[in-house]
Amino acid sequence: MERQRTSYVCQNCGHTSPKWLGRCPDCGEWNTLVEEAAAPPSGRSRRPAAAEPVSVAEVTLATESRAPTGLGEFDRVLGGGIVAGSVVLVGGDPGVGKSTLLAQVGDRVARSGQRVLYVSAEESVRQVKLRAERLGVASPQLLLLAENDLDVILETATQQRPAALIVDSIQTVYRPDIASAPGSVAQVRECTAALVRLAKDERIATFIIGHVTKEGAIAGPRVLEHLVDTVLYFEGDRHHAYRILRATKNRFGSTNEIGVFEMAGVGLVEVPNPSAAFLSERPEAAPGSAVVCAIEGTRPLLVEIQGLVSPTHFGMPRRTAAGVDYNRVVLLLAVLERRAGLHLGTQDVYVSVAGGVSIEEPAADLGIAVAVASSLRDRPVDPRAVVIGEVGLAGEVRMVPQLGRRLAEATRLGFARAVIPASGAGEAPAGLEVIPVSDLSSALRIVSS
Ligand code: TYD
Ligand code: MG
Repeated sequence: MERQRTSYVCQNCGHTSPKWLGRCPDCGEWNTLVEEAAAPPSGRSRRPAAAEPVSVAEVTLATESRAPTGLGEFDRVLGGGIVAGSVVLVGGDPGVGKSTLLAQVGDRVARSGQRVLYVSAEESVRQVKLRAERLGVASPQLLLLAENDLDVILETATQQRPAALIVDSIQTVYRPDIASAPGSVAQVRECTAALVRLAKDERIATFIIGHVTKEGAIAGPRVLEHLVDTVLYFEGDRHHAYRILRATKNRFGSTNEIGVFEMAGVGLVEVPNPSAAFLSERPEAAPGSAVVCAIEGTRPLLVEIQGLVSPTHFGMPRRTAAGVDYNRVVLLLAVLERRAGLHLGTQDVYVSVAGGVSIEEPAADLGIAVAVASSLRDRPVDPRAVVIGEVGLAGEVRMVPQLGRRLAEATRLGFARAVIPASGAGEAPAGLEVIPVSDLSSALRIVSS
């Protein structure tokens, strides 16, 4: 047999190089290039015939059929339901609950009378059945197949013609004609491309599960993002019950939409009122706790930010951040030090978002600063107040988008006061006392006086 050509492929971003490099020139990661056999040549020798393009004016839109699964939080993230022939990549850490989520989704679709093929390339049919028992999933239309040869999967799907196909996971299926190991960039890319072709040709809604892994051994879902229609990430701390499903790419809906679930003994349970859930364990009179309102997609979300300040006993002061950006925390500490006169240079500072949620929005800045100041001064923040605002380097409190919707959510959950940026003073809903502030020092004076 003729030896296949090899090349070096970055396991982080998919960059291909003819020779080994210590550092990927594309993504800048070290030690991510791994030798892989190249995909076999396509075998095309003749020049292809030209195709006939169509005018945009002549394209008729067949109404896109979108079928809600009935799992509201999942449908919301997809943009209303499953689109026939679409390909959805579901990424997430091992153990976060991807198989559970898709078994439940498959069951919903199957119960509506449509055939679903769940291909498990990691677990035996018996293992999948055990999970299904736990979830109460027993629809006769949900077909299980334990297989990791992609050609067999494609053939079975073509024969069975399911409405939905679930492949769990892309890192464990392989094409026998590609020499590299399952999970390598060449394999996951070629297998995904073949599944996308099948989905489009046969109009099968396809869900591909991919593990997000630390760079190195196995290719992550990131190299597949451009091949599929929709990319969902299932996030959450394995040790916490809450799980957040987030769309980072969606050709059939808006991105940034989130769905919130709770992992229970009977599988994933929808959390229709996440703000209330995230605040349920809040210690009301304890210093170092502040409630902020973030916007995730179209949905305002109240979360508790906790700060703990404690004297450094040895060496450099420590700073840690969980659920918020570490660099943002460090920057806010510097602003607190310089603009509000807080002495944090000899203090360890820990900031975290309660419930294992993560918040990227700058609208949480003021809440972070307030939580830290409250812990340093050992004085609690008014438990009936929410704190909303971005903090600038000069210590100014800046306006945030969609302030009105955030305030409405705070009112709905029974908050009485809101500390907001001065320029948003006009947006107060009835029943909520707003306290406009223009700089960090005045915010701190009001909140924990
Ligand atoms: P799983 O869906 O197998 O995760 P993934 O496919 O992302 O690797 O589920 C992971 C965890 O969820 C597992 O450790 C057990 C837990 N779990 C529950 O708590 N309740 C349940 O009903 C199920 C099915 C799983
Ligand atoms: Mg799994």
